[in-house]
Amino acid sequence: FPIDQTRAFGKLILFGEHLVVYKAPAIVGAISAYTDCKLEYLDEPGLEVVDNRPAVPHYKEEKKDEGDVAIGLTLSHLGVDPSIRGVRLIFGGDLCCASGIGASAAQVVSLARAISVSNGTRSLTEDEINAAGYEGEKGYHGTPSGIDNTAATFGGLLRFRRTDGPPVFEKVKFPSAIRIVYASTGITASTTKVVGDVRSRKEADEAWFANIMDRYTSLVGEAEKVLEAGDMNRLGELMDANHGLLQELTVSCKELDDLVVAARAAGAVGAKMSGTGRGGLMMALTPTEEVQNSVAAALEKLAPQVWKTTFA
Ligand code: MEV
Repeated sequence: FPIDQTRAFGKLILFGEHLVVYKAPAIVGAISAYTDCKLEYLDEPGLEVVDNRPAVPHYKEEKKDEGDVAIGLTLSHLGVDPSIRGVRLIFGGDLCCASGIGASAAQVVSLARAISVSNGTRSLTEDEINAAGYEGEKGYHGTPSGIDNTAATFGGLLRFRRTDGPPVFEKVKFPSAIRIVYASTGITASTTKVVGDVRSRKEADEAWFANIMDRYTSLVGEAEKVLEAGDMNRLGELMDANHGLLQELTVSCKELDDLVVAARAAGAVGAKMSGTGRGGLMMALTPTEEVQNSVAAALEKLAPQVWKTTFA
């Protein structure tokens, strides 16, 4: 079984979480850590799931029900019915499942890839794999924008926008390496709940939401240009500004804010929460390897888990 063909990546959102649900442009970077999936057909009907993925404490228990629904949705979207022909799924890889890293999307995209290669040939196109991942993501949260599964499927640094039809996305060109430190608060957030809460607040006060959206739209427009020009200092300032907007949206929390402040104090040129928020992850932009190491060391004093990555 060609397990290396089933890899699906984790991701960090550099700009635009939550607002991307409402069709704002966003920028997302896939990280090299991946989830893979081995699919075995069984003699008896039934579904067996073996989950060998590394995870922060409590992640798997807290996401178990949503994960079961997501796997079921992906299987049925691709016409695999374990009540007719039994299936064992073995999830692995080096992506540490933490809230905000896109582990749910990586899981369902790797499952779609496993189905694609399970007959010995690649039967699905990349767009079909991405679409299956999107259906699966609905199990984790009802109204996904599609950004996580798109990053999990295609990798790289992407500009992404949701539309009424298929999403629009393209690779972003950038001249110099983008060094990142990211840290988990150790708190697992429910994307369904946090996205639902933002929706209720928006419906209660459309003017408040539109004002945040307006400021974000001009911010991300500048971020795209700054990325292409390789201006890390300005990019960092824009990440800080995006974090401020996410605080206004009420999706940050004290644990995230403390890590953001500590990263900036240790030399990061910018820092923000990334993903769902109210727990989950934050990320810091570090201009050199030296700063990357010192920011990681500072965050390790506060966060249960800290990683370094570089988009190159
Ligand atoms: C989650 O990684 C990103 C959110 O914007 C939800 C979504 O885009 O589906 C919070």
